[in-house]
Amino acid sequence: MSVLTSEVPVQATARRKALDAFGRHIHYLRVSLTDKCNLRCVYCMPEQMTFRPNDELLTDDEMITALRAADILGFDKYRLTGGEPTVRPNLVGIVREIGKLPGARQITMTTNGLKLAKLAQPLYDAGLQRVNVSLDSLDETKYHRMTRWGHVADVLAGIAAAEAAGMTPIKVNCVVIRGFNEDNLIELARLTYERDWQVRFLEVMPFADVAEFQQATMVTMAEMIQHIEAHLGKLTVLRDGELDGEARMYKLAGARGEVGFISPVSAPFCASCTRVRLTADGKLRLCLLKDGELDLRTPLRQGATSEELAELMAQSIYRKPWGHDLAGGTIPLNRIMSEIGG
Ligand code: 5AD
Ligand code: SF4
Repeated sequence: MSVLTSEVPVQATARRKALDAFGRHIHYLRVSLTDKCNLRCVYCMPEQMTFRPNDELLTDDEMITALRAADILGFDKYRLTGGEPTVRPNLVGIVREIGKLPGARQITMTTNGLKLAKLAQPLYDAGLQRVNVSLDSLDETKYHRMTRWGHVADVLAGIAAAEAAGMTPIKVNCVVIRGFNEDNLIELARLTYERDWQVRFLEVMPFADVAEFQQATMVTMAEMIQHIEAHLGKLTVLRDGELDGEARMYKLAGARGEVGFISPVSAPFCASCTRVRLTADGKLRLCLLKDGELDLRTPLRQGATSEELAELMAQSIYRKPWGHDLAGGTIPLNRIMSEIGG
């Protein structure tokens, strides 16, 4: 009998720790606040993207009930994602509520940065500790070609506001797309000479309808490293190569900041995974790159308590898949990235 189909050793009592069948301790929840976005990145969604009707999304109260369930299970780390989390109404209020969860130790957000100039200080005051800001190029024409709608100056203003508010260290995410921005890695890596930022380059992952484009334009971590070293000299590995979240971190000689690589495709980090995701429409997604989900919205709308949800979540987390199977040709089909939150 496979371990994944065997009986889960559960008690109906409150528990403080969620373990999966492989012994991984799952305590990090990525919370997608909305599937909507104020950009249309070419590697993420079509320009004419249609979004879910609002009544399919969890209300603030439903979301907080689900997060209390995570808290019961010992989750201590929360990252707000989207779509673009800053387009969700009452974002500041949501952050404040998460901060009230007894176990919440770390609250962060992944954003495209466009609305941060105004929001950074109120968010920090509400309890948001840090942000990861997506910036795929410093070149306005290329940035605009990748995001279709955005302007670099707005992102830089957002990053400056986040730094001024105290959300440090700033992490910058750059998804590398062949034919769009692979020659911009150098200028982005160069930023770390002057600034105490972590600039992280991501391999693009395949999702559903966009997979063909994503697979055709993917640049591997090895190629990115080779390209940067050819222009800027040796990258020295930091902390013996221990992952910082999902990134492998390096430093350029004389730099203040760090350069990182996130390589879900060429070097998966599933073994050290500690996370699951809550989608904006109320599904607990067990793996970014596998379709399996637990519906929490239906029990929520039937009046389930946080304790009851915690029990459902614990059983589901026990069955978290080991990892993705991109190498074997399996890609997620039921959602694109913006509907999961990365
Ligand atoms: N593969 C890798 N990264 C992606 N992102 C969005 N879509 C993809 C994809 N298909 C990035 C965003 C943001 C973070 C949430 O993930 O640019 O930095
Ligand atoms: Fe929006 Fe992020 Fe998707 Fe770009 S990658 S369209 S910023 S959700």
